Amino acid sequence: MRLLRLSLGATLLLLLAVLAVGWSTALAQTDGDPERGGELYIANCAACHGVDGKGRIGANLENFPAIDVGAVLAVTIANGIEGTVMPAWGRANGGPLSDDDIADISIYIQGAFAGSDPVLPAPTYIAPQIDPLPDIDGDPSAGAVVFQANCVACHGDKGQGRFGLPLAKSWSGNQPELYIRSVASEGIRGTIMPAWAQANGGPLSEEDLANVAAFILTLDPVSTSPQPEPPPTEGPVSANTVLLILAGLMVVGIIVGIITYRGARESG
Ligand code: HEC
Ligand code: HEC
Repeated sequence: MRLLRLSLGATLLLLLAVLAVGWSTALAQTDGDPERGGELYIANCAACHGVDGKGRIGANLENFPAIDVGAVLAVTIANGIEGTVMPAWGRANGGPLSDDDIADISIYIQGAFAGSDPVLPAPTYIAPQIDPLPDIDGDPSAGAVVFQANCVACHGDKGQGRFGLPLAKSWSGNQPELYIRSVASEGIRGTIMPAWAQANGGPLSEEDLANVAAFILTLDPVSTSPQPEPPPTEGPVSANTVLLILAGLMVVGIIVGIITYRGARESG
């Protein structure tokens, strides 16, 4: 009988712990940090959805329609949208963003683009002065600005690659600027590489494309190739994991309780 009471007590304690963790997880989800979310949004999403969320290559994110907006947003962001250029951002899908990152971005989208919170402005980027390469049209200094606003999220700030292939490399072929321009202009079908030319529904003019190609050719493969971005590491154990472990323990506790109860009845 003592054993029975002990295991029932333990089960009750575990149940309370599970409830407490569940409650704090629910709080944390409504509590995301919109400021941090705004910075992550600018760095990863604005190229396609616009700084103001009104859409560019990607959809308009104002007044996102759903019953549980936060949950739908989080799933869409984590999994991407297959068959479109909307990438899967969640780590479970090989993306660069943690669950916390995605929760923060989702809170930012819900506040800023529904008009209840201020929209974070794009950071001012001071273009470096880069000497044009001989025989290449296009101004690499102006191209750096285009690259910063449109390509960094996937190709990395030094062209080292992230979601997209590295662009800091020695290009084969005798007219690499034409190759880069045409790929950037048309995108790569069946991948998340969007078509950037205005002629293909993108936001970039022919001049932008010439400039960004000129800039990409000045990226230094040597300084970037030895340090590719490290693969996303697992963050600290998430509240969800703790919840799962506790739920597992609780089930074990209940089973042990039933067994000892039966044992006590049979022997008594
Ligand atoms: C390369 C461009 C690109 C980037 C970068 C991008 N998206 Fe998207 N996103 C899209 C496109 C395109 C769609 C619409 C896909 C379709 O046709 O359904 C979309 C759709 C979405 C939707 C669904 C909108 C709706 O009305 O159904 C959400 C939410 C979203 N994106 C959030 C994000 C967030 C958050 C980020 C940054 C972490 C991000 N996106 C980065 C291109 C992009
Ligand atoms: C949403 C992510 C994304 C964005 C934003 C993006 N790219 Fe890409 N890009 C990719 C992916 C992914 C590939 C590789 C596709 C494949 O599998 O072939 C790629 C490939 C390329 C290639 C071909 C590289 C090679 O070695 O053949 C070029 C050039 C390129 N991108 C230029 C650009 C430029 C310029 C921009 C900005 C105007 C840009 N990309 C923005 C995802 C992106």
